[in-house]
Amino acid sequence: MAARIRVITRDGSEVAVDGEDGLSLMEAIRSRGIDEVVALCGGCCSCATCHVYVDQAYWKDLPPLSEDENDLLDSSGARRPTSRLSCQIVCGPALDGLRVEVAPED
Ligand code: FES
Repeated sequence: MAARIRVITRDGSEVAVDGEDGLSLMEAIRSRGIDEVVALCGGCCSCATCHVYVDQAYWKDLPPLSEDENDLLDSSGARRPTSRLSCQIVCGPALDGLRVEVAPED
């Protein structure tokens, strides 16, 4: 069963996204047609155009930040404590109900 993820786009709309097991959150968001998650590097953790803010309640269920992800987020002027790169989060049952917000363009 796919995790049901709620994505808040930059215009404030909420879009329900199915996060199939094993898919990255970035891929799940883009496959739902949300192109504002640009994902220029295709998920290689080198562009930060897949930046999202995650619901604090789910933070502990996410894989820890790698050094690369942390460094890349540091280069973003829009970083918040709950910032993540969506290409570094793999969908699975623990993410069911997760709410994420697309970060503003840098
Ligand atoms: S898609 Fe480039 S860092 Fe996530």
